Order: sequence, then C-alpha cells, then structure tokens
Amino acid sequence: MQQTARAVAILLALSVAGITAAFLSLVEGTSAWAIVVAFAVSFAATYLLSFITLEFFIFREINRIQEVLQKLKKKNFSFLKEENAASSRNPLRLINQEIFNYAELKQREIDELKRMADFRREFLADVSHELKTPIFAAQGYIYTLLDGAVKDKTVRDKFLKKAAKSLDGLDVLVQDLLMLSQLENKQIKMLYSYFNLSELIREVFDQMEGKAESKVITLRLAPGFPDQVWVWADKQRIQQVITNLTSNAIKYSKEDPEEEGWVEADLQEDGDRIKVLIKDNGRGISAEHLNRIFERFYRVDRSRAKVSGGSGLGLAIVKHILEAHKTVIDVQSEVGKGSVFSFRLKKRKEKKAKKKQVEV
Ligand SMILES: Nc1ncnc2c1ncn2[C@@H]1O[C@H](COP(=O)(O)OP(=O)(O)OP(=O)(O)O)[C@@H](O)[C@H]1O
Ligand SMILES: [Mg+2]
Repeated sequence: MQQTARAVAILLALSVAGITAAFLSLVEGTSAWAIVVAFAVSFAATYLLSFITLEFFIFREINRIQEVLQKLKKKNFSFLKEENAASSRNPLRLINQEIFNYAELKQREIDELKRMADFRREFLADVSHELKTPIFAAQGYIYTLLDGAVKDKTVRDKFLKKAAKSLDGLDVLVQDLLMLSQLENKQIKMLYSYFNLSELIREVFDQMEGKAESKVITLRLAPGFPDQVWVWADKQRIQQVITNLTSNAIKYSKEDPEEEGWVEADLQEDGDRIKVLIKDNGRGISAEHLNRIFERFYRVDRSRAKVSGGSGLGLAIVKHILEAHKTVIDVQSEVGKGSVFSFRLKKRKEKKAKKKQVEV
C-alpha cells in the first residue's frame, strides 16, 4: 500500500510541478532558474502533501478495514477494545467502526440463534425421552392385559395399578412442563399476599412426614425456629418451592441405612429480608454438577433417577418461581455431607398486613 501511495504521490507531484513550470514559462521575463526552482518546490510540496494524505488518511484506513474484515471472519471481536474510533474525525475510520459494529451485532445474533436452535433440539430430545418412559410402561401393561392377562384377577389388578402409576407420572411431568413454559413466558403472574412463612413451612413438613418416615428421615425445625415470620410473596408458589426442596432433601438422602438422615428448615433475619434454608445431611452434590442442577431435565445420576422417578424439572421450577419474586436460589453442598438450599424473601411491615391480594 505504501508503494502505491508513493507512486500516486509522485505522479500527482509531477503533474502539479509540470503545470506550474509551464504556466511560469508563459510569463514574460521569468528566468529559467526561477522555473526550475518553482518546479522543484511545487514537486516537493505536492509530493509530501499527497503522500501524507494518501498514506495516513486513506490507504492506512483501507488497510485497517481489510484487517477488521479478516478479524471478523475469524470471529475476533478484540477490535473494539484496541481502537477508539468514535473520537476520530476521519470518515473512513468511522465507516470502519460502523462496519465492525454492524458485523459484531449480526454475529452475536447468529450465535444467539444457533444457541436457541441447539437448545430447542436438546429440549425436544429430552421431552420425548422423558415422555417415552411412562408411555411405554403403561402401554406394556395394557397390551399384556389385552393378550390374556386380564383373565387372572390378581395380575389384572396389579398391572392396572402399575399402568395407572405410569400415567400419573406422565401427568406430573406434563403439568411440570406446562408450568415451566408458563413461568418462562411470564404467563403466570405472581399473586402476592402477606402470609406466615413459618406456618407454611410447618404445613409442608406435615404433608411430607409420611414420605420422610418411609425413608427413615427426620424432618425438623432449626433451634429457635420462629412461630411467626410474615413475608410478602405468592404463597402457593413459595409452598411449591419449599415442597420441591424438601422432597429433594428426602429423596437424595444417603443410601447407607445405618446413618440417621435429617432435613432441617431454618429461617434467619437478613435486613429487610428473611433467609429460608432447607438443609440436609444427604448425599450432597459435587462441584461439577452444582451449576447445572437448575437446568431443566438435569439430574446428577441419570441411571438412578429412573428408580426415584424424578424428571429433573423440580429445581428449574424453583429457580423460575424465585426469579419471578426477584430473588435467587443459592446452594452449598459437599459430597457425602449434605446440602443447603437457601433463598431470601421480602419481609412486610405490620401496617401493610391488611392489604388485599394484588397482582404484581
Ligand atoms: N438435596 C439434594 N441433595 C443431593 N442432590 C440433590 C438435591 N437436590 C437436588 N439434587 C440433584 O439435583 C438434580 C435435579 O433436581 P430436580 O429437583 O431438578 O430434579 P429431580 O428431583 O430429579 O426430579 P423432579 O424434581 O422433577 O421430580 C437431582 O436429580 C439430584 O441429582
Ligand atoms: Mg426434585
């Protein structure tokens, strides 16, 4: 590029110097010496000016545009950090920046679309896989009955119960999926009200007592657990959050029957919020899985999940409900020791207690 700039500058300088000399030679009384000097001066001045203009303002910027296009081809977006073209007055540099910004925006859009397409593909595969299991099971029982097993009363009852159980599982799965999709599309509005969280946790623990007992797990409240803690949230949804967390804590207890299992609920003051903690001494979750357990269909142990029957939607629902409450779920866990799931809810001041339920 520099060679081109030099050649163009020499050509321009020669023509300007030639024209100047020619004009001077037409002026009467101009000495040959003066014409030579004028030629030399105009050549030098024009050469310098054109070379600088071409090299620094045009060719260098064109070079940059080329470099930027190369970078964009390689999806290298470091250009923005290196250059601060916005402050430049050079129109070519501004165009360069515009090209870059536009390409970067488009590239990001393409990446996002690809990510969404991957997500959709993965989601469809997961959904069909999850639906397949209970449908195949129910289908198996029903066809066996049709093939003659229906005549044996005990077999018939057993198979019908099993088919019904599979279909119940299918129903839960579809309900969970429906709810997740409604939460994600913001179709479910949180119905805020003022309620006693402490009482709600006791109710959930009462409901889960049977399930815990069958796994020899004690459900307990932390020492000093308050009688009343009033929060401003959607009661039904928070009940679901606590149910899902408690159900997990029971389900993923240690497999060693010798060890005494427990699940503990705790409520802690945290400024204008209340921190809710559901702790267990279960099997725990390793660091590699910890970030992913809130993804839908994610299960730490897929093979064992078939036995316990989880579809991996529980924590995704929890995360979405809490996000709708503008709060987050936090988890700390150690393999073999247990896990603590926690989140914060807004406390409500007494005087606002009688406010009616409102949609937010
Ligand atoms: N308290 C816990 N202790 C150990 N592992 C847990 C705990 N809670 C969740 N996990 C792990 O995180 C995974 C995801 O949990 P999630 O509740 O989303 O799904 P699930 O319980 O398998 O199915 P679902 O809740 O839909 O019935 C579980 O499969 C389990 O491996
Ligand atoms: Mg669960």
